[in-house]
Amino acid sequence: MSRLMPSVELPREWAPIMATWDLPDQDALIAAFHDGAHPARDLIDGGDFADRLRAAVAGPDCSALVRYPDNVSVRAAGLVVGHVFGGDLAPCPPPLDPPLLEMPSREIAGWKKEWHTDGLPWFEPNRWTIIGVTTFNDEYRDAKTDVLPIEHIVDGWPGWEKHKEVFTGHKLNWRRQPTDAGLPPMMKPLLDQGTPRWHMKVFNTVVDEPGEVGEAFAALRDRIDEVDDGWASAVTQPGSMIVIDNRRGVHRAPRVTDPLRRQLLRIKLGGQPYGPDESQPHDTDGS
Ligand SMILES: [Fe+2]
Repeated sequence: MSRLMPSVELPREWAPIMATWDLPDQDALIAAFHDGAHPARDLIDGGDFADRLRAAVAGPDCSALVRYPDNVSVRAAGLVVGHVFGGDLAPCPPPLDPPLLEMPSREIAGWKKEWHTDGLPWFEPNRWTIIGVTTFNDEYRDAKTDVLPIEHIVDGWPGWEKHKEVFTGHKLNWRRQPTDAGLPPMMKPLLDQGTPRWHMKVFNTVVDEPGEVGEAFAALRDRIDEVDDGWASAVTQPGSMIVIDNRRGVHRAPRVTDPLRRQLLRIKLGGQPYGPDESQPHDTDGS
C-alpha cells in the first residue's frame, strides 16, 4: 500500500508577488537562480515556509509535495523551492544532463521506471531532486511518482550488514546510459561515503558474478522486491511539485505511454556533475 507524501502549502500571500516574476522559459529561470538579488530569496527569508518544507522532507518519507496557487507558474514555484534547498545550480557542460532541465517525461531504455537515485553519472550526485510539470496532460492525472526510503530497504535486513563491504567498496560503472556516451566510466560503490547511487540495471551487471559481489547484489535485488510496497507517492501536476531527498530515498517515475505529452521541470541541487579532472566538455562520439 502506498501513501501520499506529506504536503506543504506555499503561502497564498506570496502569489501576487510571484505572479509578477518574468520567467518565460528555462533560460530565464536559470538566470533567476543565479541572480543574487532576486526577490525569491527575500520571500523565503520572511516566513516559515522554508522551515516547514525542510521539516517535511526530513520526515520518514524523505519527500514532500509542495502545493502552490493556480496563478503561480511552475517556474516561479521551482525558483522558491530551489532556494529553500540552496539554489546552487552547478555548472555542467554536455553531454551530462544539467541541474535544471525542462524535458519530456522520457524513458531511456527502461531506466526511469525502476527504483533509482538521480545524478548517477555525476561525480557527486545531487542531494535534492525537484520535479514539476510544465505541460500537463489529463491522460496522466494518475501518473504517480513513488519514493521508497533506503532506510526502509536496509533496516532489519541482515543482508545489508552481511554485504556492507561490497556495498561500500565494490565499484560499479554508473555511466551506462546513452546520454553518458563519450564520458569516461564513473566507478563508484553503491554507497560512497554516505551518498547512495542506485539503479537495478547497474546492479544487474554484477548479479551473476560468482562470489560475494554477485551474491550481495542478487540479495539486494530480492530485498527490493520484498519491500517494494513501502513507498510514498504523489502526482506532479499544475499546483503540485515533488521534492525528494536523493540521499535518503530511491524513486521511480510513473508509466507514461507518450512521454512527449508530459513535459517536466526538473531541478537537481546540491551535487557536482563533473569531478576535478572533467571540467571540460567531452566528445560525445566516443573519441
Ligand atoms: Fe529520477
